Amino acid sequence: MSVSKCLFPVAGLGTRFLPVTKEIAKEMLPLVNRPIISYGVEEARASGCDEIVMITGRSKSSIENYFDRSFELEDILLKRGKNALYAKVRAISDMAEILYIRQREPLGLGHAVLCGEPVCKGEYFGVILPDDVFVHEEPVLSQLIKVHDRLGGSVVALEKVSDDDVMRYGIVSGSETEPGIFRIDDMVEKPSLGEAPSNYAIMGRYVLSPNIFPILHEQGKGTGGEIQLTDALRTLAKSEPVWGVAYKGRRFDCGTQKGWLRANVQLAMEDPELRNVVLGVVNSK
Ligand code: UTP
Repeated sequence: MSVSKCLFPVAGLGTRFLPVTKEIAKEMLPLVNRPIISYGVEEARASGCDEIVMITGRSKSSIENYFDRSFELEDILLKRGKNALYAKVRAISDMAEILYIRQREPLGLGHAVLCGEPVCKGEYFGVILPDDVFVHEEPVLSQLIKVHDRLGGSVVALEKVSDDDVMRYGIVSGSETEPGIFRIDDMVEKPSLGEAPSNYAIMGRYVLSPNIFPILHEQGKGTGGEIQLTDALRTLAKSEPVWGVAYKGRRFDCGTQKGWLRANVQLAMEDPELRNVVLGVVNSK
């Protein structure tokens, strides 16, 4: 596979979920029947990445524990004859090889990606921001890897957003070279509507060139006093191709309380058993 490693920057403070995130990693909040982070790891595996690198921070140890073996629990389940549950628990720790790197200070997404340099140096790698959960038969990261395999260079996932939403995202400018594929020439992080060069926003999936690392080393702080990945991509796009792909699929923004609640209700409604639970609550007086 051309892209075998996938970075998961999960060291952010998750302030939009406070007070819950004072102690609990937002990536461990449940999305219907498993933690949010699990969806991202499943996507990376289904896209052919067999090495997962988590960039973690304080109060994120529950992520490590979740993907680790739990001998005591496994032993109890086996002794009680709960074989199906045992298999479920074992499957989590067998899901992927995961490496953990600590980002000592939350200096921004660009800085978190830079923390992955010792592992990803010299090769193209995937990045998944697990707050964005995508649902589609072909994983979105896999859609990006296919474009990278065909055209080379870095690739980001794009979504057309409303005028009201441009200031929440990194917005790109570029030319559509084939339906749904853009050669990006510039981008700006969280612009005002007047400054936004288009309505195409970068969402949480990337295939990145290793040449992003020297750029991140050189780069100063940007919007919000953080080292921004968008600023580094902007510099990268001046010297090598950065493609944008209008991805196929549905996205659930689980980085905010409202988005997370919406995702839970929507996905529960698509589960034949849980649908009746939701409808029962909604229809009760
Ligand atoms: P967000 O902008 O969503 O920030 O980061 P956040 O801290 O997670 O959440 P809020 O805004 O305070 O509620 C986007 C992604 O970048 C990671 C986050 O974990 C998330 O996956 N990140 C951000 C880092 O790993 N390190 C950082 O210093 C900043």
